[in-house]
Amino acid sequence: MKIFIDTANIEQIKEAASWGILDGVTTNPTLVAREKRNFVELVKEIHEIVDGPISAEVVSLNAPAMVEEARRLAGIGKNIAVKIPLTCDGLKAVKILSREKIMTNVTLCFSATQGLLAAKAGATFISPFIGRLDDIGHEGMNVVRAIKQIYANYGYKTQIIVASIRHPLHVLEAARAGADIATVPFDVLEKLLKHPLTDIGIDRFLRDWQKLSDKEKNF
Ligand code: G3P
Repeated sequence: MKIFIDTANIEQIKEAASWGILDGVTTNPTLVAREKRNFVELVKEIHEIVDGPISAEVVSLNAPAMVEEARRLAGIGKNIAVKIPLTCDGLKAVKILSREKIMTNVTLCFSATQGLLAAKAGATFISPFIGRLDDIGHEGMNVVRAIKQIYANYGYKTQIIVASIRHPLHVLEAARAGADIATVPFDVLEKLLKHPLTDIGIDRFLRDWQKLSDKEKNF
């Protein structure tokens, strides 16, 4: 499973990239607004750090305006995936953009039938928002499983990005479900890495190592 980071924060992106596990970045208007800087400059800077797909979202609501915005965003670089909301106009825009070979990430997906329509329109990526579904008492991961099955049934190439991840179990379940990608906030990435027994183990090994003489330690 590929791991994207769900942030627009440059420091977090640089840090995750330095771990050697980062395959891409997803942003959204909320994440960009937190950074309080020019959107296009921010996306350009992310583009210089990360080789994999970088999602940047349109804010227009009608198809022609979405397509116009998408073309401008795609002009930043080849690995820009334009995020398009899962609406009727969004589907129209995705269809046009797929013919132009512009990558799209269809966002705000909350059902498997929405996922089916996005794939039919030619989406490169589909982003089911599992945390927001869990928040209202629906099991978000069931949508991921259903989309996975539908895409397998018909051979759709659209890649599933599990989005709106809140905790490590979401990442674990995404991998078990066979999702193509999980987009993970930085604090959850850190939680994936940390285990108290790892820290205790290192501490014990180092304490025992110190019991050796300098000659014994030499290698
Ligand atoms: O980037 C989209 C998605 O991951 C948003 O997550 O936490 O705002 O539901 P959240």
